[in-house]
Amino acid sequence: MWASIISEWLSLIFRWLHVIAAVAWIGSSFYFIALDLSLKPREGLPKGVMGEAWQVHGGGFYHIVKYLVAPAQMPSELTWFKWEAYTTWLSGFVLMIVVYYLNADLFLVDKSILDLTPIQAGLFSFGSLALAWLLYEAACRSGLAKHELPFAIGGYVFLVALTYAFTHVLSGRGAFNQIGAIIGTIMVANVFAVIIPNQKKIVAALLAGQAPDPRLGKAGKERSVHNNYLTLPVVVLMISNHYPLLFGTRYNWAIVAIVLALGPVIRHFFNERHKGNPSPWWVWGVAAAGMIAILLLSAAGPRDTRTAATARPSFAQVEEIVTSRCSMCHAAEPVWDGIVAAPKGVLLDNADNIQRNARLIARNAAWSSAMPPGNITEITGEERAVLAAWAGAQ
Ligand code: HEC
Repeated sequence: MWASIISEWLSLIFRWLHVIAAVAWIGSSFYFIALDLSLKPREGLPKGVMGEAWQVHGGGFYHIVKYLVAPAQMPSELTWFKWEAYTTWLSGFVLMIVVYYLNADLFLVDKSILDLTPIQAGLFSFGSLALAWLLYEAACRSGLAKHELPFAIGGYVFLVALTYAFTHVLSGRGAFNQIGAIIGTIMVANVFAVIIPNQKKIVAALLAGQAPDPRLGKAGKERSVHNNYLTLPVVVLMISNHYPLLFGTRYNWAIVAIVLALGPVIRHFFNERHKGNPSPWWVWGVAAAGMIAILLLSAAGPRDTRTAATARPSFAQVEEIVTSRCSMCHAAEPVWDGIVAAPKGVLLDNADNIQRNARLIARNAAWSSAMPPGNITEITGEERAVLAAWAGAQ
């Protein structure tokens, strides 16, 4: 029991830290992207300054200038932005261990997809995380990333292919988290292994009175453009575990493919606006079409549904299914090892509670295969179809 209670609070502490660090990281990176794009050149700026911006916030005015390479004299104090990114990754990784690796049988594995042991699933997850990052890093270092459009298309196809593969190895929820973790890792590694070290080398060269290698700055810029376009999709993937219809339906991988495309398109709108260019309003048409496509795809039902039972099922049938597949966890006193209270307060232990939770049952177990987690109690496609027919008639 204690292990379960401790793991619950560890998950809260690290989730809290993770969200706050990510807010700080994304906030500062969006701020700097917008600032960078809004800088305007003007006569009479100091030597080496490429532009300036005026901003008002918190009762005062800020006058910001950007030195393209470096000021004539290095300031004695320099603020670096890196711990936001590092803390996001470190807390996220601990959270992944607490939630996914230590509960792999519930959240990482789905026996009806592939019958992995928790150890196999954990190794697969960690191994593919490292491998995907190495492949990305190799592609960037080989110079492929200089060809922006082909690299963007190649990267997109790579991520969609990974998603497709993950949804055929891990549970839907585990697969979404996995692809999100890979993108997040790539983004943090860009800061840790390229952007910050290159900036340090530039500062060191300047302090030594040498001209810094322009390739250093270029590589850093390239990676920060990648990060800019990956930010929106990664956030959707990280909150996707609250949306069974996203991760627990038949075309879940295609939904990720749409999200991966929409994120950069939406960023494009803001990038253009911050540059002072005419706003590309078409972006919102594309975004709306993408969301409608997601809505339609998510209605396709879970992978393993059979055609619905023809007759309207009796409530006794429904009760029998829910009692035998759900109530060992969703009861006031669960009998499932490691579960100490009804998960999310959802009680499914008698006819009244089942009736009351019809919508939730439908979203989690009839229209998607989110529950039972990892299909641990082996609900069948026929049983899901019965629940769907019942929920549809409510
Ligand atoms: C092995 C235990 C277990 C079984 C069996 C199980 N659940 Fe769950 N259920 C959970 C856990 C754990 C959560 C919380 C998931 C999370 O943390 O996101 C949950 C969450 C839920 C939720 C809340 C989702 C939300 O909106 O946050 C619903 C509804 C639900 N389950 C329905 C069902 C149904 C219906 C069945 C049977 C078909 C079922 N569960 C079987 C463990 C179980």
